[in-house]
Amino acid sequence: MLSQIFVSAALAMSLLPAVLTQSDCARTYTVAVGDTCNAIGAAQHVSNFQLNFVNTQINTDCTNLFPGEELCLGIVGQDCTTTAVVNSNDTCPSIEAAARIPDATLKANNPNINADCSNIAVGEADIAEEQRHFAKVIATFNQYSSYALAANNRRRKDFYSLASEDQRMLERLGWKAKLIDIDNAILENAKFVKAIIARPVIFSDADLGEDAEGAEEQEQQGSTHSHADGHTHNHDHGHSHSHAGGSGYGAGRYRPTDFDMDKLRSTLKQFVRDWSEEGRSERDASYGPMKEALLNHFANVAEGERSKLRVLVPGVGLGRLAYDIAQLDRTDQVNQHTIYPYVHSLSNIPNRNALLRPIMIPDALPSAIPRGVNFSLVAGDFEEVYGTDDHDEDEPQTGQWNAIMTCFFIDTAKNVINYLRIIHKILAPGGVWINLGPLLWHWENNTTNDISIELDLEEVKTLCERMGFKLENERTIETTYTNNSQSMLGYVYKTAFWTATKIEGET
Ligand SMILES: C[S@@+](CC[C@H](N)C(=O)[O-])C[C@H]1O[C@@H](n2cnc3c(N)ncnc32)[C@H](O)[C@@H]1O
Ligand SMILES: *[C@@H]1O[C@H](CO)[C@@H](O)[C@H](O)[C@H]1NC(C)=O
Ligand SMILES: *[C@@H]1O[C@H](CO)[C@@H](O)[C@H](O)[C@H]1NC(C)=O
Ligand SMILES: *[C@@H]1O[C@H](CO)[C@@H](O)[C@H](O)[C@H]1NC(C)=O
Ligand SMILES: *[C@@H]1O[C@H](CO)[C@@H](O)[C@H](O)[C@H]1NC(C)=O
Ligand SMILES: *[C@@H]1O[C@H](CO)[C@@H](O)[C@H](O)[C@H]1NC(C)=O
Repeated sequence: MLSQIFVSAALAMSLLPAVLTQSDCARTYTVAVGDTCNAIGAAQHVSNFQLNFVNTQINTDCTNLFPGEELCLGIVGQDCTTTAVVNSNDTCPSIEAAARIPDATLKANNPNINADCSNIAVGEADIAEEQRHFAKVIATFNQYSSYALAANNRRRKDFYSLASEDQRMLERLGWKAKLIDIDNAILENAKFVKAIIARPVIFSDADLGEDAEGAEEQEQQGSTHSHADGHTHNHDHGHSHSHAGGSGYGAGRYRPTDFDMDKLRSTLKQFVRDWSEEGRSERDASYGPMKEALLNHFANVAEGERSKLRVLVPGVGLGRLAYDIAQLDRTDQVNQHTIYPYVHSLSNIPNRNALLRPIMIPDALPSAIPRGVNFSLVAGDFEEVYGTDDHDEDEPQTGQWNAIMTCFFIDTAKNVINYLRIIHKILAPGGVWINLGPLLWHWENNTTNDISIELDLEEVKTLCERMGFKLENERTIETTYTNNSQSMLGYVYKTAFWTATKIEGET
């Protein structure tokens, strides 16, 4: 397969300066009918990396360009215009020889190329996309406190714009003290959020730390930001892959969107769901019946043999369901961190405690996986990782999983038929698929060109039967998802629960 890197030469400048604004753009290009990223890259002499890096709105497959859209091709001072198209036989040395540039120059201008240059022929766009993704995550986490404090500052400004009589009345309620409490809670959250990214190696092989560090100062925001309203269903589509070769490029520049910040706030709430005592009732309601069904299905398997069963939990969120399955009910109390997940919106709050309530995490020691239990997390798209056996020849997926547990997951599909097909294929003979979740189709309102097939529950179940599943234990289970138990607004999902087995003889 011909893959394209547009190799830049002669320029080994850092890609890390100030925030990108319109005026920083060295060259622009207006998308024409039928354009592709590769075509633009080749015609305009701009590398895939540079094009992706500067135009963060372009999606992974570059399918969302629209005619008339203005792209920035390069940033003043870092606009590399000498490029080369890589063909399937190329290696870094061959490219360097052809362009007469040293290796260091090639690497400096194409930070997406990994150290041994083994990733130039594979899905160039994917790698650039992953890098941008990680850089965005780091930038978003880094700038959390600036954004959240700015949102709270808006309240302060509004307070001072009131007539002095009204100010006095609010003051007697302790309003200003409350705003200070919120600031402090945000700063505590920021400590936790920063601790997560303190070792960026968990995101990639890259050393993102230093670059990301300065980002916050640059990004002080004056404007207000969205006020997440306590019931945000996580729309994180989780396209992180573990093999991102990395660099800090972009961490200092990227300006997180409200959408990014909303995801971060959702993540804090997911910590409550998965890793706090507070989340226990929610977990009991959804993970509880799933674990019970799992034990029931394998009731005849001797206890010592159970650890040999292979259980897959796609879309595992922050991992608690998988952990619990491995855990066999051991619990250690280690409340190492304190977060304040409810301080981001003042709507539907009955009292100060509901707003400022600290949550201690974790309620169980994540490292306490029993010895002898193989436990691993795989980052990557479900369809990519489990849908094709050629993804990893050493690890075939077909018929390999004794149980597949999908919790609030199947509605992340663009085309659920494909999810069902994959689940059916990778389930081992005699295995069980256990599902619990609503049908909040994640891609329903997506503004990208991605497809979304939104079926009703009846249709999904009919498809399950037709694809060779036998559904059993069907029922509706009412449960919440990252619920603020003290909010005046609460969503309860009437989730669909079932266990399913492969019908013999069908595929
Ligand atoms: C609503 S959350 C549910 C998380 C967890 N199961 C729970 O119950 O808390 C959906 C999860 O699916 C993941 N996800 C979404 N699209 C995915 C995909 N195409 N492949 C793999 N995971 C995906 C998200 O990252 C997220 O962790
Ligand atoms: C790759 O190399 C093979 C054998 O050396 C050659 O036949 C082929 O034309 C080359 N392909 C390209 C795209 O240069
Ligand atoms: C865990 O995985 C290793 C390597 O894949 C394998 O040798 C071992 O048997 C597995 N252990 C269990 C309990 O399945
Ligand atoms: C899509 O938009 C409609 C209309 O605003 C809304 O009711 C629905 O909940 C949205 N779906 C998702 C998955 O967000
Ligand atoms: C559409 O989905 C993509 C991938 O998850 C996400 O980045 C984007 O923000 C979504 N857009 C909307 C409007 O939900
Ligand atoms: C969710 O919040 C409601 C109040 O809005 C509360 O009654 C309920 O107990 C909470 N559910 C869980 C599982 O925390």
